[in-house]
Amino acid sequence: MTDIGTAAWVMARCADLTRHSSRPDALERVYLSPEHSAANTAVRAWMLDAGLDTETDAAGNIWGRRSADGAPQRPATPGEPTLVLGSHLDTVPDAGRYDGMLGVVLAIAVAHRLREVALPFALEVVGFSDEEGTRFGKALLGSCAASGQWDPAWWDQADADGVTLREAFARFGLAPDRVGDAARDPADLVGYLEAHIEQGPVLEARNLPLGYVTTIAGARRFVLTVTGEARHAGGTPFARRRDALVAASHLVTRIEELAIAADCLATVGDIHVQPGAVNVIPGRAELTLDLRGRTDAGRDALWEQIAAAGRGIAAERGVAFEFAETHRAPSTACADRLKAAVADGIGEATGAAPGDVLGLWSPAGHDGMAMDAVTDVGMLFVRCRDGISHHPDEHVEPEDVGVALDAFTAAVLALAREHRPAGPAEPSALVEPAAPVEPVETLGEVR
Ligand code: GLV
Ligand code: MN
Ligand code: MN
Repeated sequence: MTDIGTAAWVMARCADLTRHSSRPDALERVYLSPEHSAANTAVRAWMLDAGLDTETDAAGNIWGRRSADGAPQRPATPGEPTLVLGSHLDTVPDAGRYDGMLGVVLAIAVAHRLREVALPFALEVVGFSDEEGTRFGKALLGSCAASGQWDPAWWDQADADGVTLREAFARFGLAPDRVGDAARDPADLVGYLEAHIEQGPVLEARNLPLGYVTTIAGARRFVLTVTGEARHAGGTPFARRRDALVAASHLVTRIEELAIAADCLATVGDIHVQPGAVNVIPGRAELTLDLRGRTDAGRDALWEQIAAAGRGIAAERGVAFEFAETHRAPSTACADRLKAAVADGIGEATGAAPGDVLGLWSPAGHDGMAMDAVTDVGMLFVRCRDGISHHPDEHVEPEDVGVALDAFTAAVLALAREHRPAGPAEPSALVEPAAPVEPVETLGEVR
């Protein structure tokens, strides 16, 4: 007998998805890769088992849908209100197994639990194809397509092997000129709800399995290029050097100082040096930069300081400094009614009084940042061990997954109660939404 709808099933499916990796020794699954296709195939089968009809959209996102009365249904009936649950199926290099995948699999388990329950809206589950931006630098490609925000300027962005996004689409069997077909009509959407591991230490420190998200921080990403001169490592005295890597190193430490002073987050996650030989002074260094802030204005002010520092260091050291922005997403506030539904669900699942349900700010990015353009967004955070994420040691306890499943299901039902048109007998059936408590500011604790 299938046990879809239990924590054990969810944990096992997250383990299954680790098989679809481009590396035998680690988990890495990027947009439009053979592993992306294999993961979609696995997820499609689980969606079908959960009573959902499925479809891969024009950007490679996998969707499952049931109608309000519970029947598997594709395509959607135009105008039928629809609640979307989901997260992403792509990963960073050497990833953990829960970032993204837990939210997709939990959503399928919720759909299975509710398969016999009539709802006042259709229910969809989505596995977004690209949230991390690992392959093309631009994050949220899957959810940008689904929210009608595809920018044609992205087509020429290339991966590390020089394959452009346009070419990758064709190789995956998708038609670039059809990407607009993936866009959802805001008029049909009731909201987007996502469950995700916290990726930080706050819930664990407070001994809580779950929290709801208040705001998702906006990120900006850049490629910074420092160009000096490659010369002989033995024959070139220091006074004659224009070492791109030394200049870049000064910039990296300055970026950290500036970010700490600005109370923002800045990460140089990758450096490429050319020509890259032990006895050649580096002539060129290319750095990635990821910037996040409590507010977009604070983050943008930090970027101005970093750009000025780059120009200053370049002038001092006789090198050139250039940059290109590869990704920008504004911060996103979760909608009050979805925060209340998630808080309600947490209260029901954990027995916590409304005032004791914790709201958290998310320094990590999520697909809701894109979906916010077409519908209200809400998020459920699940405690993870030691706040570890983007690392193979990512870990969640099955007990927490069980309570997350209960809370996520209860959140959907809370929204269903809220959504039903008010009739004379309705109000008594409504559960008072939990009053969201003051959000905690997590940035200081995350450091
Ligand atoms: C996504 O995980 C991000 O915040 O980078
Ligand atoms: Mn991630
Ligand atoms: Mn994620």
